Amino acid sequence: MNFTPTSPHEVDPDIIAWLCPVSQKARQATLSLANRRCFRTITQDSNSQRSTPEWIDCWDGVALQNNCSFCLVLTFSQIPSNEYGFVLGSDRETCDILLPGYNISRNHCFIGFTRDRALAIQDRSTNGTRVSYDDSYSHQAWYTTHTWRLSGQHLDDCSKTIDMQDYVFDISVNTAAAHNYQFHVSLTSYLSWHRPLEHQTIQTPIYTLGKTLGSGAYGFVCMSCEAGSGTIYAIKTTKNPGDRSVKREYCCLKEIQQLKKQSNMPGKNYIIKLVDVIKCATSRLVLEYFPLGSLHDQAKARPLSNFDQEMLLHSGLQALDFLHSHTMMHRDIKPQNILVRSREPMDIVLADFGACSRAGYAHSFYGSYLYAAPEVAQAYSDLLDGSRVVHRYDSRCDIWSFGVSVLQYTTAGIPMCPFSHRLSSMTPDDWCEKRLDQTGERSLPSLGEMWCKSVASHARAHAYEGSRITRLSQLMLVEDPLQRRAASECLQIMYGDEGAVSWH
Ligand SMILES: Nc1ncnc2c1ncn2[C@@H]1O[C@H](COP(=O)(O)OP(=O)(O)O)[C@@H](O)[C@H]1O
Ligand SMILES: [Mg+2]
Repeated sequence: MNFTPTSPHEVDPDIIAWLCPVSQKARQATLSLANRRCFRTITQDSNSQRSTPEWIDCWDGVALQNNCSFCLVLTFSQIPSNEYGFVLGSDRETCDILLPGYNISRNHCFIGFTRDRALAIQDRSTNGTRVSYDDSYSHQAWYTTHTWRLSGQHLDDCSKTIDMQDYVFDISVNTAAAHNYQFHVSLTSYLSWHRPLEHQTIQTPIYTLGKTLGSGAYGFVCMSCEAGSGTIYAIKTTKNPGDRSVKREYCCLKEIQQLKKQSNMPGKNYIIKLVDVIKCATSRLVLEYFPLGSLHDQAKARPLSNFDQEMLLHSGLQALDFLHSHTMMHRDIKPQNILVRSREPMDIVLADFGACSRAGYAHSFYGSYLYAAPEVAQAYSDLLDGSRVVHRYDSRCDIWSFGVSVLQYTTAGIPMCPFSHRLSSMTPDDWCEKRLDQTGERSLPSLGEMWCKSVASHARAHAYEGSRITRLSQLMLVEDPLQRRAASECLQIMYGDEGAVSWH
């Protein structure tokens, strides 16, 4: 049961949290006379009175009314018996809440506050405690000397269940009082008398799953809070358990992590950091969290200034230079896969390495139609035709895709796509296959080729002396990949010694 306080009485600022029994043992402990100081009833019917003196007086441990459930409550006025907070355990002398039993340590765990004012529970037992958040994975293990946060940031929205060797309670934190002045006064005074509960830096991380941040073709990304430290991350899960894209992304990011250590190329700072991997039915990647979201989201919220565009172009090329110099290609560069670390000044990271290839060249179609390079469509069309010579493509495909991504935010923009209404239902075959001519031969350019041609000529048409659009058009949005510049060349020409002219 996840109890949400509703009446004014329930948001009493003296209340810290409610422990609602789930297991039989927890019910017995809640009804035990030893714990009557913390006992409260929760009326289901909002019109009826909450616990009354008569009720407590006539209470014999069984005489419960049907419309009442009951819980243990922790309050500031109770004054915890230990310097770390409320003690739960089997020792009658030192515990605030008595949990009798062989498996329970004398001081099994403490409930108190962290230095940054989050409620937390810390295990101090021999046999361990476990805490679960919502119905999430990986929280089911028993841990000793472990600290779990119970409130703060998105943990407030999770349901939390603590299990102390079959004493199972749902814990509801009094988040309704979080903005209450008296609650904060009491908490400040509490923290001046009690030691904060600190998490151990070596403890196993526990990731809760929060709101969805975004989703793409292969996976979805959720916000996550690591329950020990309270740090927020982003967790990426594949939509389809059989899909190997998260595995591929994991391998690439792991390798990039290694390469970053050995390199001092500036581009290494513009690639997302893999923090951890959770091995479960489908692996999940724990990634750095970027509250500003993707470049696509940011540009919708506020158009990119000239300076933003320049920072984007420079750091994106540096990131690609780093990847390409290690024979890696991203293959899905687009604004949705570029995350924004800061807006003033614009600072980005490349993300979504689900299509990344480490071979240096490829034939298969990956990426998004509007951003895919002409040679990617060409290579796939060769495969479809069964051509004896299949044009393979290499890392220059990223330069094209990045060129389209930047062009989109310049004054030129990108041309209207005549098939935009059909894009979501198109297959790579529809996009890449040559079209039939009057004689029934497949000799006409594919939709993909036509689109790339129109992007390149649109950029040329909008280019003017010394402009960013000219640079994109001459160096990056070149249809022939052999004539297109590599990231290192683009950097040299645009920002190297000779290229250090003022662009606008
Ligand atoms: N680390 C992160 N921080 C914040 N938002 C993110 C993060 N990673 C992804 N997102 C959001 O989720 C979306 C999808 O993530 P992405 O890795 O591109 O998954 P997919 O492979 O499904 O396309 C992104 O466009 C972005 O809006
Ligand atoms: Mg994506």
